[in-house]
Amino acid sequence: METKDSFAVVTGASQGLGKAFAESLAKKKINIILVSLPGQNLKELSLRIAELYHIKTYYYEVDLSVNENVLKLTDWLNKFFDIYILINNAGLGGTGKFLDATSDYINNILQVNIAATSLMTHQLLPNLLKQPQAYILNVSSMAAFSPIGFKTVYPASKTFIHSFSRGLNEELRDTNVFVSVVNPGAMKTNPDVVSRIEKRGFLGRLTLSSRIKLRNIVLISF
Ligand SMILES: NC(=O)c1ccc[n+]([C@@H]2O[C@H](COP(=O)([O-])OP(=O)(O)OC[C@H]3O[C@@H](n4cnc5c(N)ncnc54)[C@H](OP(=O)(O)O)[C@@H]3O)[C@@H](O)[C@H]2O)c1
Repeated sequence: METKDSFAVVTGASQGLGKAFAESLAKKKINIILVSLPGQNLKELSLRIAELYHIKTYYYEVDLSVNENVLKLTDWLNKFFDIYILINNAGLGGTGKFLDATSDYINNILQVNIAATSLMTHQLLPNLLKQPQAYILNVSSMAAFSPIGFKTVYPASKTFIHSFSRGLNEELRDTNVFVSVVNPGAMKTNPDVVSRIEKRGFLGRLTLSSRIKLRNIVLISF
């Protein structure tokens, strides 16, 4: 594999905000590596973006909830690519009683939202530090700013992402790597999220980002 160009890595790129990030980067002629769970038509999306925007794209299907998978992915990235943008977007949450949640459900949120973001960043940082200028964008949530009962684990995980990002930016202040964090309000990105927002009625609409605003979030970030 011969790839002397620089790339952006976007996790959770198959749909929702991650896909919007990928398309926004592609419009700016930035080469992308798309990462997502298997079976989400990532190959088709990757080929479509490459053809449409005349950029180089690669894709990697992986379950990021398993630490070993994250390490295999970052080994592959470090071996073959110069990475100058990392967007840790993959994330999940849900609503329900903490007591009723399965241990798998809780573990999945912690692994994808917290462990995968931290490991991706840790393993790719030496690569990013080698580039003339590099950027990490971590996707937190407005939910990071307040505890929310019946979501409980999700907002707590996003508080971690917020604090982690700001701490790391401080730590890397004198380097070429700039770390930022975005805390979006509700976005109607997938059917599950749409139904949760609609069930919350007025409160759900209060922090809702429209498609236009969603596009603005992407543009402001870069
Ligand atoms: N939507 C909102 O209202 C909202 C508000 C604030 C913050 N956020 C945050 O924004 C980010 C994107 O959210 P979204 O609404 O766009 O969600 P989404 O449509 O569900 O997309 C999430 C992405 O993460 C990927 N992902 C989930 N679990 C994964 C795993 N185990 N391994 C690899 N990839 C995995 C999904 O891959 P597959 O497509 O393969 O499943 C998907 O591409 C998340 O971090 C979320 O917490 C969302």
